[in-house]
Formats: sequence, structure tokens, C-alpha cells
Amino acid sequence: MNVLFMGPPGSGKGTQSKLLRDRFDMEHLSTGDILREAIAQKTEVGMRAKGYMDKGEYVPDAVVIDLIRARLSSLAGKGFILDGFPRTVPQAQALDQVLSELNLQLNGVFFFDVKKDVLVNRLSSRRTCRNCNRIVSADMVSNGKLEDCTVTSKPCNFYQRNDDLPEVITKRIQVYQEQTTPVIDYYKSNPNFLTVDAAMPADQVFQIIIGKLK
Ligand code: AP5
Repeated sequence: MNVLFMGPPGSGKGTQSKLLRDRFDMEHLSTGDILREAIAQKTEVGMRAKGYMDKGEYVPDAVVIDLIRARLSSLAGKGFILDGFPRTVPQAQALDQVLSELNLQLNGVFFFDVKKDVLVNRLSSRRTCRNCNRIVSADMVSNGKLEDCTVTSKPCNFYQRNDDLPEVITKRIQVYQEQTTPVIDYYKSNPNFLTVDAAMPADQVFQIIIGKLK
């Protein structure tokens, strides 16, 4: 089973990807996570991407297409979730090409629809674990009743992403509207396309996704 999650920053793509990955043992391919890992490891790709990401702009198509091509080519039959790719029409065209070369198909294409004010609230209060990438809200961290990190087995080491600062959030939403809205139109004719009201609680969003995939 291969799935694509699309939607604006903060619409819940990462949250739903982790739920689906854990339920069905799928590969979670998040270009944002892959790029942040490259930055942490100070690779050439990471150093190139950092300047764009800190400003809330998209990393050049060629960079992310190469990353995804490499990951998809090494899956050896495991189902995958694409989270945050494609974000531009050239990326969508490149994905079609790669999937065709690998004889793969998308069984679900989900667009997470959420209004801007909700996105801003969610992103401003998001915290992410440095080790296991768990995503929570600041409220949940201050309540202190969270499971331990799945990597260290100690309490998670939460931080606020550089691009979750107010001025960068505004820029990210603007870039999304300009460059990714055409990608939604690109997929609307796909028979497995579904718009999800992702302002609902995360567990309800998950049930809708599961229902469609069944
Ligand atoms: P990336 O990391 O992919 O960021 P994004 O797309 O902006 O998405 P987010 O991770 O911010 O949000 P999300 O939709 O995953 O929401 P989440 O589940 O975390 O990309 C970062 C940067 O990398 C880009 O800006 C760009 O520079 C670069 N990049 C990445 N891919 C690229 C590409 N293909 N091309 C070019 N550049 C690329 O949830 C957010 C918060 O809401 C959390 O606190 C969560 O707990 C909460 N929440 C989630 N769901 C719900 C719910 N249903 N109800 C209430 N709260 C919820």
C-alpha cells in the first residue's frame, strides 16, 4: 500500500504519517525530516537546504527529487507514505516518472484541508523530539504525561523548529499557497484522491484515512 499526504504546513501530515506507519509497518518518507537529518549531519545537501528552510522557502526541486528517487528505489517492496513531497508541479511530474520506472502506484492521495488560523496556532505551539521526531503540542509537554522517547527510552528531548517562529510560519503558508495549490489540482483527477477535513481531532482524521484505504 502506497500513500501520499498533501496539505499546508501544520495540517497534520506528519502526525497522520506516524499513525499509519505504526499501524501498517510502512516506510515514512518525509522530505522535511530527511532534510533536517541532513542538516544535523552537516552533509552537503543539508548545508544547501538550511538557508531555504530557515527562511520558509522551498528547497530546489532537483535536490528533493534526487532524495526521493533514491529512497523509493531502495524500498524493496515495502509500502510507503509520502509526506511533504511533491510540493511543486515539476516534483509531481518527476514522481510520476519514478513510480512508472519502479512499476509502483499510489493507492491513496489525501489532501488535508485546514484553515489558516488553525495552522498558525498548531505550528506556534508544536514541539518535536530531537531523537524520535515525535510531534506534540507545547500543552502536552507542560502537562508532562508523555511516553518516553522510542530511541533513548528516556523523556523526549523536545525543541521548537526554527521554521515554527511566527514570521517564518507566515512565509511558509504563502509559499505553500503559491507553489503547492497547483499540485492539488494535478491530483484531483486521480481516482484515489480524497479531501479530508483535517481540522477534526487527529484520531477522527485517522479513521477517515483508514476507511478510504480499506
Ligand atoms: P516539512 O517538515 O515537511 O514541513 P511542512 O510541510 O511545512 O509541514 P509541517 O511538518 O510543518 O506540518 P505537518 O502537516 O506535518 O503537521 P504536524 O503533523 O507536524 O518541511 C519543512 C521545510 O522543508 C519546508 O518549508 C521546505 O523548506 C523544505 N521541504 C520539505 N519538503 C520539500 C519539498 N518537497 N520541496 C521543497 N522543499 C521542501 O502537526 C502540526 C501540529 O499540529 C503538531 O503540534 C500536532 O500535534 C498538531 N496536530 C496535528 N494534527 C492535529 C489535529 N487533527 N488536531 C489538532 N492538532 C493537530
